[in-house]
Amino acid sequence: MSATRKLHVKSYGCQMNAYDSQRMADLLAHEGFVETAAAEDAELLILNTCHIREKAAEKVYSELGRIRRWKEHAAAKGRPMSIVVAGCVAQAEGEEILRRAPAVDVVVGPQNYHRLPALLDRARRQGKLVDTEFPTESKFDALPPADRDAIRRRGVSAFVTVQEGCDKFCTFCVVPYTRGAEISRPVAKIIAEVERLARAGVREVTLIGQNVNAYHGEGPDGRAWTLGRLLHRVVKVSGIARVRYTTSHPGDVDDSLMAAHRDLPELMPYLHLPVQSGSDRVLAAMNRRHTRRDYLRTLSRMRHARADMAFSSDFIVGFPGETEGDFRETLSLVEEVGYAGAFSFKYSPRPGTPAAKCADQVAEPVKHERLTRLQAAIDRHQAAFNARSLGTTLDILLEKPGRRAGQLVGRSPYLQPVHVMLPESRIGDIVSVHIAEIGANSLFGILSPPAQRSGRTEPRLAAGN
Ligand code: SAH
Ligand code: SF4
Ligand code: F3S
Repeated sequence: MSATRKLHVKSYGCQMNAYDSQRMADLLAHEGFVETAAAEDAELLILNTCHIREKAAEKVYSELGRIRRWKEHAAAKGRPMSIVVAGCVAQAEGEEILRRAPAVDVVVGPQNYHRLPALLDRARRQGKLVDTEFPTESKFDALPPADRDAIRRRGVSAFVTVQEGCDKFCTFCVVPYTRGAEISRPVAKIIAEVERLARAGVREVTLIGQNVNAYHGEGPDGRAWTLGRLLHRVVKVSGIARVRYTTSHPGDVDDSLMAAHRDLPELMPYLHLPVQSGSDRVLAAMNRRHTRRDYLRTLSRMRHARADMAFSSDFIVGFPGETEGDFRETLSLVEEVGYAGAFSFKYSPRPGTPAAKCADQVAEPVKHERLTRLQAAIDRHQAAFNARSLGTTLDILLEKPGRRAGQLVGRSPYLQPVHVMLPESRIGDIVSVHIAEIGANSLFGILSPPAQRSGRTEPRLAAGN
């Protein structure tokens, strides 16, 4: 096969989706495909879609309209162009995509893309097709590993999927339908992947899953391991200096996870723990399976395990039946926790989910107004959190060149981007940086002598929130 076949994968969704895009590129590299940044020149164009909110899905259809013209243009020049729709819209819409977007050749669900080479081959011979059947085992273990150059190109911080799918069925959410039931990868496979990444220069891994702390993969002892136990093992991989995990459900934080935060300096003291709402009435209607009090107790136990913990969250405003009083409870929760950052969304009714059928939908202008108020509160806390970094010393993992010559940008334990003047040869190092200035979107620091070179990150920032 010629080595000049061009591939472009466009990712719309969450970190799992971004990871899936990388794995598709790794798989197709074995078929002679090389990634290109210019989508319109690709011989194979994959849209890896997200269905979480309405806008995400509509974006895909409008993009497919544009792509149809590229495909016609390529055909006029005698150049082949295959279009694949992958990801959660593919799973949810299936055949409907082929009907609405005739330029598409293959529709493949997020659990089936390991079959892409065979699917492309069949589509070429027999015409358009859809594959959205759920497998019983994780597809990752059927995929070839990434090669060293691909890992290097992606930088010193990498994602590793350890768990897929969700059994929680929050009443607003499509994920249990698009990603299917929870499946955990075996410990040995995860460790082999982390070792491979570390050998290629990766210093930080983020273990990802839709419900990552429900992890229950098979350990080398034949028993189901918890995420806490897995983290204890991952930090032992030589070269790995930092570990994170996302996204967690508050109901699945167990003692082994608390112990990991207490005992592992490599486990970063920053946790994304989505709460969605501060009102118990709304939490119950969402089927979140935890109360405001349960959630606050979990955060307090976490802070007890490690004093420098900081938190982020996801919020939904305008869930069906949410009153002004309910919404104020969300605002008061934001004040009480003092998040270092958070994402907030207007509730979007998703086809097939229970909440979409509720009669008491909240009017659009009300959702809009609540979102504005919530985002202002979150921004205020985020700014205060960043301001508290001023004058402190933070360990920074240097990731890539900054905007200015001679400058690098790295991440603090709290994922804050930090700029510091250092040569490119220092990428991948963890250095102690004195924070001298707070910008709008990043911090600026100077190397604090003596530079820390052990690769270990010790807690430094006092819990100020
Ligand atoms: N598994 C994760 C994340 C799921 S999707 C978790 O349980 O937290 C990421 C975020 O999208 C959710 O946390 C939620 O805040 C938001 N979201 C999901 N469905 C939504 C919907 N129908 N409308 C608006 N936001 C939604
Ligand atoms: Fe969706 Fe809830 Fe599962 Fe998260 S826990 S993926 S919000 S159903
Ligand atoms: Fe979107 Fe699917 Fe992720 S719906 S958020 S790409 S799990």
